Amino acid sequence: MNKKVFWAVMIGIVVFGILAATRTIWQDPGEQTWMKGMIEKLHVLPKEQNLAYDKACASCHMLYAPSMLPARSWQVLMSGLSDHFGDNAEVSDEVRVDVSEYLQRNAADKVENIYAQPMLALLQDDKTPLRISETKYFTLLHDVVRPQMIASNPDVKSVARCEACHYEALQGRYNRFAVRIPNYYKEGIWRPMRAPATKGSE
Ligand code: HEC
Ligand code: HEC
Repeated sequence: MNKKVFWAVMIGIVVFGILAATRTIWQDPGEQTWMKGMIEKLHVLPKEQNLAYDKACASCHMLYAPSMLPARSWQVLMSGLSDHFGDNAEVSDEVRVDVSEYLQRNAADKVENIYAQPMLALLQDDKTPLRISETKYFTLLHDVVRPQMIASNPDVKSVARCEACHYEALQGRYNRFAVRIPNYYKEGIWRPMRAPATKGSE
């Protein structure tokens, strides 16, 4: 047998073996549990909807994914809404309990996704962060983001505005390929654009 043909056959057998072992070949893709499990972990937003959360928390900033903080953080945050980072975000008792339970049910320590577990792994048990942006996981991930890209950037202003840079944040997608820092461009590192962007022009 010709050498090339021999290797082609060998590679074919190995690839078939791997696909067969992972049951990729004869299972319907929808039934491939390993794939389903992986795709589910990319979903950062909870499956359940909570309109009260939308009403109570979407007026000043985006709705953060509950799995970005542990349950204990939400519990403390939700019991101090009258002084919420200098603002008053108080709601009725009924709404507060509903939203608080929703956030805690879907918190980082209650679900599994690609951000929750790494965040928890880097968080000390005796720490209760009230900001996503002050968790160690967050600061490590945002090492490349310099202060001037936020505070003195008119189109960002605050690190709490995830959606300013993560343009799919509202859909719960934070992957590094869906990041665009306003007034900056990436060429190896993030660099400032020469002319400041003016409103209404691209
Ligand atoms: C009246 C306005 C207002 C409302 C309503 C409001 N917030 Fe906030 N929230 C703020 C402000 C101001 C900050 C600080 C933002 C900053 O640093 O730029 C903040 C920050 C946060 C942060 C921290 C973000 C970070 O830096 O990681 C969380 C979490 C948060 N809010 C949750 C909630 C929840 C949950 C609700 C609903 C119960 C809510 N907020 C409703 C004004 C509000
Ligand atoms: C000033 C722009 C900016 C803001 C605001 C911002 N991020 Fe990011 N974020 C980035 C950049 C840039 C990266 C990619 C870092 C890299 O390429 O290594 C990133 C990475 C991430 C990642 C990791 C993505 C991955 O694929 O591993 C997560 C998760 C994330 N950010 C969450 C958040 C959350 C939550 C907020 C709001 C509380 C936020 N970010 C606010 C710029 C920003």
